[in-house]
Amino acid sequence: MEQIQTVTTTTGESVVPGDEGKDKFKKCDQIAFYRRQKQLAGSVRYHALLDTLEVSETHAELQLQHTHTEARLLLQVCGIKGGAVRVKINELQPIRARYEVPDVLIGEPVTQRLRAEPGGGGAVTLSAEEGGFQVRIRGHPFLLEVESEGEVLVSVNAQGRLHFETLQTPPTQGVSSVDSDKVVLHTVDPSHDAVEHLSSKRLQGLIKGSYSICSQACVFQIRNICMETNSDFILLFQGEDSQGLWKEEFKTFLDVKANGPSSVGLDFSLHGFEHVYGIPEHADTLRLKNTRAGEPYRLYNLDVFAYEIHSRLGLYGSVPLLLGHRLGRTVGIFWLNVSETLLDIGNETETESSLQGPPQKKRREVPCTELHWMSESGVIDAFVLLGPSPLDVFRQFAALTGSQALPPLFSLGYHQSRWNYEDEADVLAVDAGFDQRDIPFDVIWLDIEHTDGKRYFTWDSKRFPDPARLQRHLQRRSRRLVVISDPHIKVDPDYPLYRDASEQGCFVRDRAGRVFEGSCWPGPCSYLDFTSPHVRDWYSSQFALNKYKGSTDALFVWNDMNEPSVFDGPEQTMPKDAVHCGGWEHRELHNLYGFYQHWATMEGLIRRSNGTERPFVLTRSFFAGSQRFGAVWTGDNVASWDYLKISIPMLLTLSITGISFCGADVGGFFQDPEPELLVRWYQAGALQPFFRGHSAMQTKRREPWLFGDENTRAIRDAIRERYRLLPYWYSLFHRAHCHAEPPIRPLWVEFPGEIQSFEMEDKYMIGNALLACPVTDAGVTEVNVLFLGSGEVSLPVCLQFWYDIRTFRRFEGGTNTSVPVTLDSVPLFQRGGTIVPRKTKAGRSTACLSSIPFDLTVALDSEGCAEGELYVDDGHSFNYRTKQEFTLRRFTFRNKTLSCSCADEKGQFQCVCSVERVVFLGLEAKPSAVIVQQGSGVREKKKPFRFEEETSMLTVENLKLKTVHSWELKIK
Ligand code: NOJ
Repeated sequence: MEQIQTVTTTTGESVVPGDEGKDKFKKCDQIAFYRRQKQLAGSVRYHALLDTLEVSETHAELQLQHTHTEARLLLQVCGIKGGAVRVKINELQPIRARYEVPDVLIGEPVTQRLRAEPGGGGAVTLSAEEGGFQVRIRGHPFLLEVESEGEVLVSVNAQGRLHFETLQTPPTQGVSSVDSDKVVLHTVDPSHDAVEHLSSKRLQGLIKGSYSICSQACVFQIRNICMETNSDFILLFQGEDSQGLWKEEFKTFLDVKANGPSSVGLDFSLHGFEHVYGIPEHADTLRLKNTRAGEPYRLYNLDVFAYEIHSRLGLYGSVPLLLGHRLGRTVGIFWLNVSETLLDIGNETETESSLQGPPQKKRREVPCTELHWMSESGVIDAFVLLGPSPLDVFRQFAALTGSQALPPLFSLGYHQSRWNYEDEADVLAVDAGFDQRDIPFDVIWLDIEHTDGKRYFTWDSKRFPDPARLQRHLQRRSRRLVVISDPHIKVDPDYPLYRDASEQGCFVRDRAGRVFEGSCWPGPCSYLDFTSPHVRDWYSSQFALNKYKGSTDALFVWNDMNEPSVFDGPEQTMPKDAVHCGGWEHRELHNLYGFYQHWATMEGLIRRSNGTERPFVLTRSFFAGSQRFGAVWTGDNVASWDYLKISIPMLLTLSITGISFCGADVGGFFQDPEPELLVRWYQAGALQPFFRGHSAMQTKRREPWLFGDENTRAIRDAIRERYRLLPYWYSLFHRAHCHAEPPIRPLWVEFPGEIQSFEMEDKYMIGNALLACPVTDAGVTEVNVLFLGSGEVSLPVCLQFWYDIRTFRRFEGGTNTSVPVTLDSVPLFQRGGTIVPRKTKAGRSTACLSSIPFDLTVALDSEGCAEGELYVDDGHSFNYRTKQEFTLRRFTFRNKTLSCSCADEKGQFQCVCSVERVVFLGLEAKPSAVIVQQGSGVREKKKPFRFEEETSMLTVENLKLKTVHSWELKIK
């Protein structure tokens, strides 16, 4: 029997991984707005007042009216160019502005005019000129349907779950009489009797126990009752607000809601879809589950160390984008709300004829996924992304929230981290250790112990007496240093950063208007209010080289604990009634806190180089759009096979929701991995976008050479493979940056027409060319691979070929094969029809790659063709966009001729590396000659070659073909 292992928490307790979440974090029935939404949703009805419809250049709008209360909402519908519909609902006349998410969208979406026509049956139809979609709105009850090509894809409010809690004035009118010894109060909880009588004695007791004075409106506001003061004050009642309208308790925490109930909820039905994905971050399967019988998926950024696997608890970041996929169509629903959000998912079947659209000949049962989104506050702002292909949905989402920032090349290399490298000597020894064992690496990381008492932007002078010297040493070896910078600032009047931030009013406040204090690594801390542009600007300026003492341009940054983590806060985060700039409560914008710190850090690094150098910033917390600022990792995992396994669907989910530069702690953060697990994790990590080994303070040292020669060799091979493949990774990141294509992607993205791919999550594609099959179980000697490739649509071939990149054996699509594996490597296959660029050697770090030649692997499809591309620039500056210093090369193999041509004439970059070797996989017969021609009019040259009959592999070496010139290689 497996022993139950525990991990030691940050506060020194011993717990079983996953168990900690069981009572520290809320279950859905402990969330008041969720209970209210579930209770009321479906029982209320809105109807659309179609005669209020107005259409402008940018949108159509009309009013919705609640059938009982007659409260009115304003519905706006926009047709967005590129294939999306925006549905926005707000109160018609809110008594105060409701929070509308700033800064996530990269700009006002480009809309198109919608043409309104009567839709028949008491409906209006809004037609888009471009993109062939329509929105039909029905009046009684309100129903909105998004149609494309005559088919209803998505219905909104088909389940009648539109529920919008309109803002109210705090119930001062609840006081019905006040005299010297008696107060009569109305309760605000509609489930209670309307009036509560309190004697002055009881009132006194309450005042002592739980009152708080606040300049903001709150629960009950009573004039002249407090004998000591004549000012207004707020009285918090225990147990009188069971619906959590104005206050809510969780454990010992009390959340006072300045604006009372403000939640919003709406349902979306995805017709014909039974496979849905997305909405990170959860430690769960790639395909989202039906939540009808359990907890909904929660999107609330939390610091959950050693998180439970297969749980729907929200982890460190949130992207409220859900993707639905079925044969022939992918759609997305982006719910733009940054307050706590819950999503219920139900799978139903319906008869096709119940859908509007052209009459169906036969009634068929079709699946339908019902989504019920609920958020604690804000407005409803949802985007229906219409696809039709998965890549279209990625592009539509990127048009809204931006694409992945192009990372500096070094950051795609291997990163070595632990909590903590002890001191300068330790760092130097680790750096030298990699060289001694010939293992490439680019970056070494320093965790919180490098600082003076967890004061960020400082150094522990004993451990790191001359940090600039250390960085110069690393820089000479073309390596970098990353240091941590958390958002909590130690309360210490002698700490200049704290003093400055206090004087400038940079901290979040509590509900009483005092600077908020919570506990984190340094003890009592205050938290920077990154939602304020002024604070972001101030924070960015801290990274200036002359301000951040001991920093050099070889230093990059890691933002951790930015959910934010508050050790003594509710669910270990910031109380929702804390107050940010502009008077917004934390509840309104919680999920955006980490996004803002990441942004400000990124800006700081750009600014310190006067805008010339690309930054690298890793963040733990994120939101939709964080891809614009850098990389994300999956936080505090555990050194066990289960966590290695779950890292794959977690990273695929992040990738398809825009967060392409993502990784998991290699080896597992908590506990000590057995050597086999560590090796397998390196092999998996080497095939993931962000590749960093990291481990907790209590773990044993685990530099790659500490586990015996055989394991060191296997880890070295995995890292070297990664470095050789970096031209391909970098080209993929360029595509992610320019075309929003995630470098790693689930198989269904590449094979959208093959149902078998829809649930595959242990294997995935790197770009469109490589099939990665990481080993995630102990003692594995063979891996079963189902090769896809019948009926796929992204490459127009009938039969897909796959080539094992180690044995060069060819497999056909549609077959199932067991591939033997040893500890040395994991199976990797190249898809026929693709060309993959590599370096011929790995080098010590990415800087060495700039002088190492390329090799190309040309894997032929069933028609004997292939294509691929290569992107090259200087790897570190913004010159690729300011001065067009880049080169994008296209390789095509057709009619037995491999040609290299320019794929973007704008690019001007002198890449000194030549193409040295080309390997062709799947050639039918041994050629009689291989001929090369560099440039037109230049004499052709014959080249020696090797052909292996058994594998049909042709290798041509010593080519010296200039990468930036046009050339041809002909096979006779
Ligand atoms: C929590 C992070 O998730 C972990 O990676 C880091 O080592 C610790 N904080 C200490 O900074």
